[in-house]
Amino acid sequence: MNAPAIEPVIRFPEHWRHHHLLDLESLSAADITTLLDTAQQLSDLYDRNGKLSLLAGKTMANLFFENSTRTRNSFSLAAKRLGADTIEFSSSGSSVSKGETFIDTAKTIEAMGVDAVVTRHGTPGTSHLLAQHLNCSVLNAGDGPHEHPTQGLLDILTIRQHRGSIAGLTVALVGDISHSRTARSNIWGLKKLGAHVIVCGPATLVSKKWEELGVEVAYSLDAILPRCDVLNLLRIQFERQATRPFPSVREYALLYAMNAERMRLSKQDILIMAPGPINRGVEITPEVADGPHSVILQQVSNGIAVRMAALWLLLGNGSSA
Ligand code: NCD
Repeated sequence: MNAPAIEPVIRFPEHWRHHHLLDLESLSAADITTLLDTAQQLSDLYDRNGKLSLLAGKTMANLFFENSTRTRNSFSLAAKRLGADTIEFSSSGSSVSKGETFIDTAKTIEAMGVDAVVTRHGTPGTSHLLAQHLNCSVLNAGDGPHEHPTQGLLDILTIRQHRGSIAGLTVALVGDISHSRTARSNIWGLKKLGAHVIVCGPATLVSKKWEELGVEVAYSLDAILPRCDVLNLLRIQFERQATRPFPSVREYALLYAMNAERMRLSKQDILIMAPGPINRGVEITPEVADGPHSVILQQVSNGIAVRMAALWLLLGNGSSA
């Protein structure tokens, strides 16, 4: 009797063609859906089987020029859960302080036999620049205020897990829109999947120009709250601001912080999200951050899942397990 054929438990998507993950703006709705589906499959596979070997023999390097807790650690964990090796680079204590350029530093890391460089930098376009100079895959982990594609993906995956699909939902991004890479990646991803997106904050942090991206611009959180299925509360990025965009943090919190009172104006099943780090009492109060509508820690877990998906799709070379 013939032994039964062993079916692959995950199949590499045939239509996937990308070598880099630089932004969500240039991805199609089908690409984004593939990333989300793959994230779900890989995290289920990991939960059932433990560490996988889909990327055994591959090496991922974290090349971070800005601070990070969630993104950096979850990229490393994602690589390890797929069986890859990791290199951790930080700008402090490196040859950058001896005058080496960003590109030379990246090429040096690549020359160590690295298959993927994950990069975060304060200047927009740096990951796109690296992609032009390196042969290995480049993943953007945040380029200044421009994009943060895996953050957009993990936010959208979290919404999809709760609501089944994205089309037809109203999602508000609240806070420091103009300095937020999370906002831009969410806008591109959510719009492509058919959501209605509202960007809401003080006029100094969100101008009417944003309407050109096909989003609604709002200045009153209280006015839009009853229509929102999801709120993504963005941190005020003081480190990217030349001048203070509102009179005081207290005034900002009075108008835009999600608190118990505003929860009563919201839909009964509203999802409360934040990319983190959260500033309790500024964009969100503790009772909301820790309350039953908050999915902030689920976002963190989903960060590992979408980063596993991104790494496997870029480095897996059509491998199935
Ligand atoms: C965000 C970032 O760094 O872009 N955080 C993250 O990656 N989870 C948002 C922020 O710093 O406020």
